[in-house]
Amino acid sequence: MRTQVAIVGAGPSGLLLGQLLHKAGIDAVIVERVSGEYVLGRIRAGILEQVSIDLMDEAGVGARMHKEGLVHGGFEMLFAGERHRVDLDKLTGGKHVMVYGQTELTRDLMEARAAAGLPTVYEAKNVRVHDYDGTQPYVTYEKDGKSERIDCDFIAGCDGFHGVCRASVPRSAIKEYEKVYPFGWLGMLSDTPPVNHELIYVNSPRGFALCSQRSATRSRYYLQVPLTDKVEEWTDDAFWQELKHRLDDKGRRDLVTGPSLEKSIAPLRSFVTEPLRFGRMFLAGDAGHIVPPTGAKGLNLAATDVKFLHDAIVEFYKENSEAGIDDYSRKCLARIWRAERFSWWFTQLMHRFPHDEAITSKFQNAELDYLMNSESGMKTIAENYVGLPLDFGT
Ligand code: FAD
Ligand code: DHB
Repeated sequence: MRTQVAIVGAGPSGLLLGQLLHKAGIDAVIVERVSGEYVLGRIRAGILEQVSIDLMDEAGVGARMHKEGLVHGGFEMLFAGERHRVDLDKLTGGKHVMVYGQTELTRDLMEARAAAGLPTVYEAKNVRVHDYDGTQPYVTYEKDGKSERIDCDFIAGCDGFHGVCRASVPRSAIKEYEKVYPFGWLGMLSDTPPVNHELIYVNSPRGFALCSQRSATRSRYYLQVPLTDKVEEWTDDAFWQELKHRLDDKGRRDLVTGPSLEKSIAPLRSFVTEPLRFGRMFLAGDAGHIVPPTGAKGLNLAATDVKFLHDAIVEFYKENSEAGIDDYSRKCLARIWRAERFSWWFTQLMHRFPHDEAITSKFQNAELDYLMNSESGMKTIAENYVGLPLDFGT
């Protein structure tokens, strides 16, 4: 088989890139290790920044998102027993975020891809990338016991943190920066109305909690837990009890409990690969970087990598110019490091770390108190949360 762009991974990055390239008249084939149902079963991010909303529209798949997504013009911070609202709308001159689950976004992209008859190979085993240092790269894989090969002009490594693309690069050609946090997030999804109409980020003496949502009838809650905890050990009752402990009186009164639809523990990590381009192969999304989830940057960063990669590939084919692909790493990494910084800062501000001294939580509360009472402090949080403009710093 021959195509222009071979995309490895059918998560949000790979699917969005495929759809944008299709709109630009550029062929792509996606190869994915697992099944489509498996991809849809992974409950992950829930908050879209305006840039991601715009990209879904540009890809022609925004209709359901606009109908069902919930526009949020603010969120709440709960610390020292009190809530403070961050008014995104007012602080950023009218910007907001949208609650729309990664599962829904992925489903919209998958359906559009299938409707357009675009090729996706699910359950491709032993995917390998070859010769991306030259001008004739190719991808091999096994499907139904047969070896297959895709010849292409470019390989897009959209295969997540554990993918094959980054792993195939010689160690001498890549630099990786990593910080692993000493706790994880236990997430729970339930068909119960959200405790609040907006999200609540909680810094409590028992650790961080987040009250999020997927719709007016579906909630998503998270608790900071030790890395040694096993998800099977957390009963629904234990989860609700612990969440109540970390909330304020109003939260405890308003919280509606019910059976969980899903529970999982995600470790927290900051991770960046430099560079993101290796000849004719590019890394995009979690394949190149991971942020801790505090601040909801992961999916949104993946979407902006994809935008920059799409623009560069279009420029190559339509304008016969390599300027865009040459600048891909630099452009992405500038944005990535800004989001990495914000996510790391917000994580250390909101969580209890093992072996913290008593003074640390006092410092956290003092910083939160300063931020909530300073207009410039509030603006700093708000402009990072809604996402810095694409041309920031240029
Ligand atoms: P992925 O979604 O990881 O997709 C990569 C795809 O590549 C997968 O489908 C995978 O099966 C496939 N693949 C892997 N290896 C191969 C291979 N060898 N061959 C072929 N295909 C392969 N972000 C937030 O903003 N908020 C959150 O609450 C949040 N929670 C998260 C919870 C978890 C457990 C994880 C892992 C991530 C979470 N994130 C969250 C981050 C967010 O979900 C990611 O940033 C986003 O999924 C990135 O999309 P992606 O397409 O780059 O990578
Ligand atoms: C969600 C996840 C986040 O990391 C976050 O900051 C906000 C919301 C969510 O899954 O809903």
